[in-house]
Amino acid sequence: MRRITASLALLLATAACTNAVSEPLLSTATPEPMVSPILTGPEALDTLTWAEPQKARVTHVALDLDLDFDAKRVGGSAVLDLLVAEGEDSIVLDTNGLEVTRVTDTAGRELDWALEELEEAGAKGSPLTVILGGARSIRIDYRAPQDATALQWLSPEQTAGGVHPFLFSQGQAILNRTWIPTQDSPGIRQTWEARITAPKPLDVVMSGVAQGEPEDLGNGRRAFRFVMDKPVPPYLIAIAAGDIDFRAIGPRTGVWAEPSVLPRAYAEVADTEEMVVAAEELYGEYRWGRYDMIVLPPAFPYGGMENPVMTFLTPTFIAGDRSNNGLVAHELAHSWSGNLVTNAVWGDSWLNEGVTTYFENRIVEAVYGKARAEQEAALMYANILETLGEVGDDAPGTALSTDGGYELGSAIAYDKGAFFLRTVERIVGRERFDAWLQQWFDNHAFQPATSELFYDDMMANLVASDAEAERLMLREWIFEPGLPGNVAKPDPAAFAAVDAAVTAYGGGSTIPAAWSGWTAAEQIRFLDNLPAELTHEQLAALDTALGLSSTGNNEILFLWLEMALENRYEPAVPQAEAFLARVGRAKFVRPLFAVLWDEGDWGRPIASRIYAETRDSYHSVTRGGVERVMSAQ
Ligand code: BES
Ligand code: ZN
Repeated sequence: MRRITASLALLLATAACTNAVSEPLLSTATPEPMVSPILTGPEALDTLTWAEPQKARVTHVALDLDLDFDAKRVGGSAVLDLLVAEGEDSIVLDTNGLEVTRVTDTAGRELDWALEELEEAGAKGSPLTVILGGARSIRIDYRAPQDATALQWLSPEQTAGGVHPFLFSQGQAILNRTWIPTQDSPGIRQTWEARITAPKPLDVVMSGVAQGEPEDLGNGRRAFRFVMDKPVPPYLIAIAAGDIDFRAIGPRTGVWAEPSVLPRAYAEVADTEEMVVAAEELYGEYRWGRYDMIVLPPAFPYGGMENPVMTFLTPTFIAGDRSNNGLVAHELAHSWSGNLVTNAVWGDSWLNEGVTTYFENRIVEAVYGKARAEQEAALMYANILETLGEVGDDAPGTALSTDGGYELGSAIAYDKGAFFLRTVERIVGRERFDAWLQQWFDNHAFQPATSELFYDDMMANLVASDAEAERLMLREWIFEPGLPGNVAKPDPAAFAAVDAAVTAYGGGSTIPAAWSGWTAAEQIRFLDNLPAELTHEQLAALDTALGLSSTGNNEILFLWLEMALENRYEPAVPQAEAFLARVGRAKFVRPLFAVLWDEGDWGRPIASRIYAETRDSYHSVTRGGVERVMSAQ
């Protein structure tokens, strides 16, 4: 199944390079690229890129960009190093909204280029074709548009400090083409470097290694340099800039945040060094050098993003008790599943997210113990069952390997993916399974992967007999909808006490006295399983007894607001409004607008009124989600 393209002979010499930079391959800018192979075959065909990497591909990107906080625009140049197949003399790049002014070779000679204006381009954007005239390194002068969907420019009011503006990017899945002209496909790995200028006193961080101290340019600006010398999929190039400070955790771990947020952020992620050690013990060396994190302002649209050497985190996971830092374990685990071995196409994103969710749970088990890990796994399992209940066991989007056309939240790619690996682990035993998964990461490090490759690798390197293959049901798990019958269910004892409390509540509105001693997962389980219909008296009693509307855990606050709005509970409306104005994380914002929208005459005017106020503060990802929800019927 695995075919490495043969037309680029140079690639073969360097396939599977995993370690330090070796001999120079080509005459390119420093640092020398480690060239990672391209997968071919229909299952590795990325329909979301314009690139034709078999003909010509980018191996290295050198950015020289200025951050203009007044115009809210990024502009400058990108120098791309290329590998070009024999007989080819052009390259196709991905762009979306970029204003390209000039394309030259590195001697400054103008090259012919065309940026196709496509009527209905959408997120795929516009192909930029450059005629190379023999060039193997090209420079593109350009400016990103003001509304680049990868970038969010925050006003000072949207930050904790309230004085300085802030910028962050979000590349996954296909947003980076709105600020970087390159081949924006997860199967086309590239090394990169950057020089970024920003106004004082802002600091800049990127998903690459900072090079020395920033240079004072004497014009009120400073220049920051970064290098990523390992080939990464381009969605992992990321930037953030703002008034931020750093605090070290361990020898290779630390956290950035706005000064007033840093103490709380640090306290929440203080176990990170321990997590890295646990992860290495499970699946081998952490290969990226440092593992730092930045806790961003609450407009960040995700819980976290696994940008190499610099995980991006929402501040909304801070609960004061580290109960939500499965999130940190998750983003850390992506340093293997996702960043080392990467889905070649987005329809196989379970290879990133499902493997990571399994790995996350193993880190949680190692650092916080089996009981917590088993409770978190049980919540994932409930999520799978809930989603399958909604869309049906035979909905095609419930296969792990999809055509990318289905959006089922986290239940399939994340939770079904994790339960697949858990099931395999239970059948073959932890020792064999862990050895197999470690060799998967090692043998495919810095390379793309497909579902077929994963299946073939399991058959070749894990499965011991035909009888075992039959018990594993690998193809059913990967390629068929629904949940295979051999699933390793969570331990029913994980939530025994909570489930009894849910039953007790169901009849007589008995509010659990044990609540305040419960873990966050137990509290979530209880709220998840309350009857869908609750009277206003019941909601008021729950809120009073459990302190739901004043909880410091945003996961629990979100569940409270969701169930209150579903039952048209007026006192929750101002609370929801305040939450939706404070938080931009799509996972919280989209469902709350969806609930309001579902509540027709009662909820729609409320949704429209709140959204008119909050829209401008949301990232394009969050806005897109809300607008889809509010266009229903
Ligand atoms: N890589 C994802 C975030 C992502 C997914 C961005 C799809 C764009 C498209 C990240 O690792 C993630 O899964 N974040 C979750 C964390 C959670 C499952 C612990 C999130 O943001 O909620
Ligand atoms: Zn993830």
